Amino acid sequence: MKRSYALETLSWEHHNGLVLVFRLEQGMQFDASVEEIKRYLLHVWQTALLIHIDLEEKYLMVPEYLRDLKDYLQQMQGDHQIFAEMMKKLNKMKSEQEIRNLIQQFSEKLKTHIRFEERELFPAFEKMLTRVEAKQLGEKLHEVHKPIDLSWPNEFWKRKNGSEQ
Ligand SMILES: [Fe+2]
Ligand SMILES: [Fe+2]
Repeated sequence: MKRSYALETLSWEHHNGLVLVFRLEQGMQFDASVEEIKRYLLHVWQTALLIHIDLEEKYLMVPEYLRDLKDYLQQMQGDHQIFAEMMKKLNKMKSEQEIRNLIQQFSEKLKTHIRFEERELFPAFEKMLTRVEAKQLGEKLHEVHKPIDLSWPNEFWKRKNGSEQ
């Protein structure tokens, strides 16, 4: 389903989130340095994911929407808190195996979270918003949207000796 104007910038950012998931999974599969994948994830968390989460909470968790979509919005916020706790833990982690497990968990959880927002939360939102609300919300979100930069000097998610890249 095509995303409405109101929520499309958030959906673009979800696409970036899925690119991140793909890179984490490829990196692990190609035996990239776990320490480097960790640094990359923490970097994207700080420069992109946190901003996206703040936008969702600032613009979607408002009283007029909470009235109708409380359960969905609480689930969204609960997931965001879990992500924040995971990143706090990751920051302090030293053991390679623990880091690997956490990155794996994070990547699964991020995929599920994006699926939930795209397939449940956003369609419910689009049904609920009046035409005027949708226009206003879309304008605000477009105004604050900044393209996300996922670049990293070493593209560890690419196979080193394969012919595909
Ligand atoms: Fe979210
Ligand atoms: Fe999101």
